[in-house]
Amino acid sequence: MSLQGEKTGALYKRATEHIPYGVNSNFRYWGPDDTLVVTRGEGAYIWDADGKRYIDYRLGFGPIILGHGYPAVVERVQQAAANGTVFAWTTPGEVELAERICRMTGVEMVRLSNTGTEATMHALRLARAYTGREKFIKFEGHYHGMYDYALYSTASSNNKKMLGSQRHPRPAPVSSGMPRRIDEYVIPLPFNDIERLEETIAAHWEDIAAILFEPMMGNVASIMPDKKFLKTIRSQCSKYGIVMIMDEVKTGFRIANGGAQEYFKVQADLVTYAKALGNGFPVAAIGGKREIMMMAEPGVFALGGTYVGNAIGVAAANATLDILENEPVIATINQRGQTLMDGMAEILTRVDIPHAMLGLPPMFGMIIGATDAADFRGFLNTDLRLAEEIGMELNMRGIQPDADNREPWFLCYSLSDADVNETLSIFNDVVIDVKRR
Ligand SMILES: Cc1ncc(COP(=O)(O)O)c(C=O)c1O
Repeated sequence: MSLQGEKTGALYKRATEHIPYGVNSNFRYWGPDDTLVVTRGEGAYIWDADGKRYIDYRLGFGPIILGHGYPAVVERVQQAAANGTVFAWTTPGEVELAERICRMTGVEMVRLSNTGTEATMHALRLARAYTGREKFIKFEGHYHGMYDYALYSTASSNNKKMLGSQRHPRPAPVSSGMPRRIDEYVIPLPFNDIERLEETIAAHWEDIAAILFEPMMGNVASIMPDKKFLKTIRSQCSKYGIVMIMDEVKTGFRIANGGAQEYFKVQADLVTYAKALGNGFPVAAIGGKREIMMMAEPGVFALGGTYVGNAIGVAAANATLDILENEPVIATINQRGQTLMDGMAEILTRVDIPHAMLGLPPMFGMIIGATDAADFRGFLNTDLRLAEEIGMELNMRGIQPDADNREPWFLCYSLSDADVNETLSIFNDVVIDVKRR
């Protein structure tokens, strides 16, 4: 059975003629029969080219915090577009946005960029400039974007052999075309392993510029940090003069208005935001301590780009954050997400499928065939095949989480109680049918 209806299939086939594999981002490729062509989104729904409606829990990989085509955001963007979209100067909207981000998150200064990739790439360079050191620690299964330094041991590193042993992990490249020696700068470690982290830092701190990490595993089923893990990262960074870069591209403006810094009560040196910041418009930010941010000195340090701070992204971000500050967005999402998580757990328990619901209601994960996972290797030991079967069957019936359960379920403010009930009812049918097979 294919996910594509007749019109979707025909459009997809046409796409493959001039777009490699018919997609502009490889993460959107579900194979020749199941890659969709979507024509419209509104609120919590998307429609494919055959008019099939899905309740959308992918939300463009997380940015849609309010809803697709959210009127208040669209209006602000339309007004901005009519006044010119990009100038080679600072605009009042950028000033307003920087003030807002600082107020909501506690960072002292901000620079904008367009994507999460750019934000983490620049943050890493800032850390190197600040410390005069070149290597960085990252955690297995954490994803930070599409540039060479970050493309090691990510959530796409399916081959356990490539990761090396748990005691001595090695950087596993996830793309061809990367210069081999880049891996000399990358120190991969398992998430949540305090002993390994402390041991590695004690041995190599003089070379380590940064720890670049996701506060919870937003690219691996929302695995949470152990209680002491983030505090250990904080204290080790302070002790050894390492820059703590918390990648909040997925958690920022989603798990709390102040993101993971607020939720986990930990303050990083640099923080990166994207996704929910603009409710689907391309806008991102690097924030942090004044002393580090001021390394971005014109003529000395490279940080910028033609489209950074463009009026479209800035208007979208100002509109989105305005709503987050003035309406109970996160509280509403939390409540509906919790209902969903509890309901799914109950259904899986009833049919006797071992499982765990992980993460937080605005972006939660579901693992099958195990009752816990603390890191990427733990996740790879769960029943990925059965999880995918459930995910695909949900998609067949109009509920769209990612079929690959390393991607969390994302919720938006437009999702209603009725949508949650519909999802649970279909989830119940799917799980019973899959179990029967
Ligand atoms: C935690 C994290 N950092 C960075 C990125 C890269 O962001 P972008 O796709 O906007 O370049 C992603 C993308 O999913 C992400 O999840």
